[in-house]
Amino acid sequence: MRIVRTLTVYCESFGCQMNAYDTDGIGALLEGCGHRIVGSPDAADCIIVNTCSVREHAEQRAIGRLLDLSRHREAVIVVCGCMAQRMGARLFDLVPAVKVVAGTDSYFLLPEAISNAVDNGERSVFIELGGSSVIETMPEKHEGPVSRYVAITRGCENYCSYCIVPYLRGKVRSRSVRSIMEEVDGLAESGAREVTLLGQNVIAFRDGSIGFGELARKVLDETPIRRLRFLTSHPRDVGADVFELMAAEKRFCSHIHLPVQAGSNRILEAMNRGYSRETYLAKVRMARSIVPDIAITTDIIVGFPSETDADFRETIDLVREAGFDAAFTFQYSPRSGTAASLLADDVPAETKKERLHALNSVVMEKRANMLGAQVGATAEILLDGAAQKGEYRFLKGRTPQFRNVLVPRENLREGDMVLVVLRRLANFTFEGEVVAER
Ligand code: 5AD
Ligand code: SF4
Repeated sequence: MRIVRTLTVYCESFGCQMNAYDTDGIGALLEGCGHRIVGSPDAADCIIVNTCSVREHAEQRAIGRLLDLSRHREAVIVVCGCMAQRMGARLFDLVPAVKVVAGTDSYFLLPEAISNAVDNGERSVFIELGGSSVIETMPEKHEGPVSRYVAITRGCENYCSYCIVPYLRGKVRSRSVRSIMEEVDGLAESGAREVTLLGQNVIAFRDGSIGFGELARKVLDETPIRRLRFLTSHPRDVGADVFELMAAEKRFCSHIHLPVQAGSNRILEAMNRGYSRETYLAKVRMARSIVPDIAITTDIIVGFPSETDADFRETIDLVREAGFDAAFTFQYSPRSGTAASLLADDVPAETKKERLHALNSVVMEKRANMLGAQVGATAEILLDGAAQKGEYRFLKGRTPQFRNVLVPRENLREGDMVLVVLRRLANFTFEGEVVAER
């Protein structure tokens, strides 16, 4: 690799946790080549934007941001991620300042492409999928926050009918257990206390005879990490083994993100989700019976093609029954190339908006109930940063259930684990009274 001089590089990330993780990895890769990551685009030689395509709105925002960043005329602009993968060279026309387009499997090509763009004004596009080596070659990161992500799989082949991800991120590939363990060890050494194992569907992880449950067990047994989380699991695939490990191992946090997407069987079928509302709710009951203190969060789409008021009411009923701690809610957005994009997008925009609004108020009501029931309880929290409240005299932390807690800073530090009594709840955040340090 030919590095002519040290460049200043500014990175920005849109979308999911996988993108956040990749953006970090790209930063570390470029630092490894002698470049310097900076916190503002103003004086940067190179600006990297990692993008999301899951909904049209996400792409519009990214395009808007790229046009905005184009004001930095001197900088080489690089687009990565799902929108780069989807649009390829078309991005040069949409945003003329863009010099490099690197899709989801091409980040290892960035150092050279960026040098060529800076030195010779050369444009390049990389959108080949399936470069499996990339998932093993993300460089180690140094000193960072106490809570870090580690990707264990990439890609998805579930082909939920609304979802563009399988087309943009390719088939499921699992990283090797060895490289995952090395990365977790490295993160622990550099100050991480908590790791979240990432994948579009982590339950699909497999390396030889080792599946997700065994991998989680190994990370708990063989690394010094104090807390383990995971994102995301497909409700069809998650089984009792994961919940049993959670029940047996305090460090395996009692939280699962289990996207339900819809509450009507007809819509679930049309979404190609591979489960019914009954089997979903049975998984929720299984989770709660094995891990009584578990928190469950979810994703929900409203306004999928042909969704009727009756279908939508089934979603509302399911939300009431399942008792989610939180839900991310979305209006259906047709993505070209997906199976659902061939169906008429026949729920009027106004109806989608009303349904989203109605759904959000039930989600918030349940969230308030679920959290309210915890006031007075004791919880162990990991302090992961300063809180803006009270001019930074508070630290923020999370319970194993991923609930937000603030505690007075006093002599505590980021990375400490403390036992608190959850005293008050405001804006879905607890105020905690520290009763013991761990
Ligand atoms: N329209 C709306 N929401 C979508 N999601 C995925 N694809 C679409 C789409 N076409 C949502 C799903 C998924 C989350 C990451 O984004 O709820 O779980
Ligand atoms: Fe998309 Fe379904 Fe795969 Fe999730 S599981 S990334 S919603 S295709």
